[in-house]
Amino acid sequence: QDPSRTLIERGWLFHEGDIVAPMPEGHNATYLSVKAGNAQGAAAMAFDDSDWQPVRLPHDWASAQPFVQTANVSQGYRPRGIGWYRRTLLLDPADRGKTILLQFDGIASNATIWVNGSAVAHNWSAYNSVSVDLTPFARFGDDANVIAIRVDASVMEGWWYEGAGLYRHAWLIRRAPVAIVTDGVHCDPRRAGDGRWQVPVAVTIGSTDHQPASVTLEATLLDPDGRTVASGRATATVAPLERADAALTLDLPLAPTRWSVDTPTLYTVVTRLVRDGVAVDERRIPIGFRTLRFDANQGFFLNDEHVKLKGVCLHQDHAGVGTAIPDTLIEWRLERLKAMGCNAIRCTHNAPAAEFLDLCDRMGFLVMDENRLFDPAPDYMAQLDWMVRRDRNHPSVILWSVFNEEPMQGTEAGVEMLRRMAHTVHALDDSRPVTGAMNGAFFDPVNVSSVLDVVGFNYYQGDYDRFHALNPTKPMTSSEDTSAYETRGVFADDAKAHRLTSYDTEAASWGDTHRKSWKAIADRPFVAGGFVWTGFDYHGEPTPFNEWPTISSFFGIMDLCGFPKTAFDIHRAQWLDSEPVVSLNPHWTWPGREGQPIEILVMSNAERVVLRLNGKTVGEQPVDRLMGNSWQVPYAPGRIEVLAMHGGKVIAQAAHDTTGPAVALRLTPSRTVMAGDDEDAQPITIDAIDARGRHVPTVNLMTRFSVDGATIIGVGNGDPNSHEPEKGNSRSLFNGLAQVIVQAGTGRGRITVRAEAVGLKPARLVIDRAAIAPRAQVAATMPTIAIRDWRRSPALAVRPAPSLAPADGDNNSWAFVRSGTLVQPDAAGAWRVYRASVTPWRRIAQQGGTLRFAGIAGRAELWIDGARLATKAEAATGPLEARLPAGPGPRRVVLIVEAAADAPSGIAGAVSLTADG
Ligand code: GAL
Repeated sequence: QDPSRTLIERGWLFHEGDIVAPMPEGHNATYLSVKAGNAQGAAAMAFDDSDWQPVRLPHDWASAQPFVQTANVSQGYRPRGIGWYRRTLLLDPADRGKTILLQFDGIASNATIWVNGSAVAHNWSAYNSVSVDLTPFARFGDDANVIAIRVDASVMEGWWYEGAGLYRHAWLIRRAPVAIVTDGVHCDPRRAGDGRWQVPVAVTIGSTDHQPASVTLEATLLDPDGRTVASGRATATVAPLERADAALTLDLPLAPTRWSVDTPTLYTVVTRLVRDGVAVDERRIPIGFRTLRFDANQGFFLNDEHVKLKGVCLHQDHAGVGTAIPDTLIEWRLERLKAMGCNAIRCTHNAPAAEFLDLCDRMGFLVMDENRLFDPAPDYMAQLDWMVRRDRNHPSVILWSVFNEEPMQGTEAGVEMLRRMAHTVHALDDSRPVTGAMNGAFFDPVNVSSVLDVVGFNYYQGDYDRFHALNPTKPMTSSEDTSAYETRGVFADDAKAHRLTSYDTEAASWGDTHRKSWKAIADRPFVAGGFVWTGFDYHGEPTPFNEWPTISSFFGIMDLCGFPKTAFDIHRAQWLDSEPVVSLNPHWTWPGREGQPIEILVMSNAERVVLRLNGKTVGEQPVDRLMGNSWQVPYAPGRIEVLAMHGGKVIAQAAHDTTGPAVALRLTPSRTVMAGDDEDAQPITIDAIDARGRHVPTVNLMTRFSVDGATIIGVGNGDPNSHEPEKGNSRSLFNGLAQVIVQAGTGRGRITVRAEAVGLKPARLVIDRAAIAPRAQVAATMPTIAIRDWRRSPALAVRPAPSLAPADGDNNSWAFVRSGTLVQPDAAGAWRVYRASVTPWRRIAQQGGTLRFAGIAGRAELWIDGARLATKAEAATGPLEARLPAGPGPRRVVLIVEAAADAPSGIAGAVSLTADG
């Protein structure tokens, strides 16, 4: 998409916990501590991070925390707290003059970022990207840049698990000085009144150059096969350090292939910026041609065709990895939703990762993109502005949601706040309606529904009709419904054990069961659709228990691992039209229950269903697609099966066998080939099978894994009450299932996964690793101690004593200079003194190290702590090295330099202190 950006996800160091900068001692240290480049403590360039933990991004440190009873229940009993990240970054001298940015797509939650000892950004939300303009701070060549980030995840923006740290992708961006700014292309197609299609292209160009620049914007529309469909040009002039817009319209000669849920056809807009005949920047943006419309009586129309929104609400986390979800795991989760017939997703209650929306475009989902906080003050409006700019080209996005369940929804202030937020959204995008998820105040004399384009109903299903009757021209959708409870594989409530049945009978008082909630929506054409709370379980919010030891939700249609619950079968039957569906719950392994009635729930989209036990018909009913079909069947071991009939023919069937005891483990991947790109990840299912190879649904044994050719990045089993760690190489099965998430290594090869459990035959799985080149990553650089900042005496006529120093508090008589800066000859004399201080890292303090000057111009003597350590006799520029004896810091480094006649002198290159060996 943007060739100027490179992932910067390797080579980070992490420290869990806060590091409080020491109070500067005395007035002059205080004076110096607040100067640019002089950040203190762990933000200081020279800070000793040598014992920090190497990590790669995306990184969620909370996901590795134990569950702690005193931690916040809503965040899943995971301590979050404060953490620090640091990274050393070398920039190629060829990048000098470019615009250089750092971009973090998500930091949970608040953060301060320093670059080279200067604070460069403050972040206030876990859900927006943070962009840092490195350009004025950048150092090049062996003059290393140091990035330090303090992340405060003790704050909360939600009542669900939010993760902690740099949990989304991070980028280093290097652009020409005059280039397209981040999220600077708007190219969302429009259908004109006459039915013809256009793509209005508006591009924002920024300049860090010193001269005004005239540039040409060339825009090209490519069809799905890469053929040019339309193109155009526009020009702009950008003043130094300013922005300018270039706009044009691409007219389509022919009707484009439409983007839809079933055929999500994507075109590409290529915008190229040309300066002095040279292409200096380019973006490739996938777009889709589709219209959308919400009708107050008939609901939602995509391309003028009615589409009922069969949606789910999602939080971002998954078992094992928390919020640090590899892109391919996001894709896997979306595939699970597609398999269920889901066509819409509400991003509750925050903007998702950019990759999530890219996948929704490609896979055909309709997205309600949601802002986090209801607040029109500038800091928060900036977050809303960011979201709309970033996401407004996505065909998948059909609604902007600006709030969720705000108690001020029925007040005058609430209306005024919303009016401002809606205005900001409309100013940036005139094509999508603004919605908000109300949970009350629908009939209050003053309420926010007056300002919403589409009213979102959270629950309150009993009020749909009344609202519609009173507001017959106001489109509405359920923005959230259901909030039913199920524990996967559990078919009886056990309140003491915090387990809830999967018969779809349990729901929050404000919600309803899966079946009834959808029925209320399906029966009402004026309700555009629904969004089930939630597609997947998530860490935190363990309602209805909301107490220890429960660490995750019960709401999911699937559990934390994405293993389907009964709700998955319910929605498949309700939602899928493209294929015959029938399912049967529960399983049929109930030793000891012989002769007792077992409730059977069948869900199907056929005409009739026939239930059979051991070959004998025990029931037949016309299908109730919305509410399902139920029987009480006395348990007898064997096979229970259901036949789904249409026009007298069996069109689908499902069955469960009574299984024997588990004898072996089994490993099932979702893909047998993974990309050897060091990023590709997939969940692998572990289950136990009986002697005939059948899944045994009742096993809860501990299993252990080992993996070659890949890394285990997390484990899970979907049990909301389990406190087993989600990192490591073991996990108990929960009602027959566990999951291990592996991330492939690099290059062509094999991944071997083994699983074992006491008393069972182990399982072995081999997956191919294909030769897919990893995405480019900024090279990791090992941190070194650099001495960068010196005080330099005035020129002196005679050799000074090494003790010569400016008076304390005199920040004026001696210059502040950096390594690498030479001084011109001075008539006052050839001698100068350079003074610096260095605090050796722990290991060097204990064992000593080597102090290395890459280049000194002039003759020189090196003194440390009053002892002469080395001499450079030659005047020509050359290196100087000395052994630094062991000892704690800070150490006083003094360099006496004698310039050669009429020649520049001083510290010509980098100065480093390295450990021995
Ligand atoms: C809603 C809320 C969701 C979640 C849900 C649980 O009120 O919007 O975030 O808390 O209830 O039922």
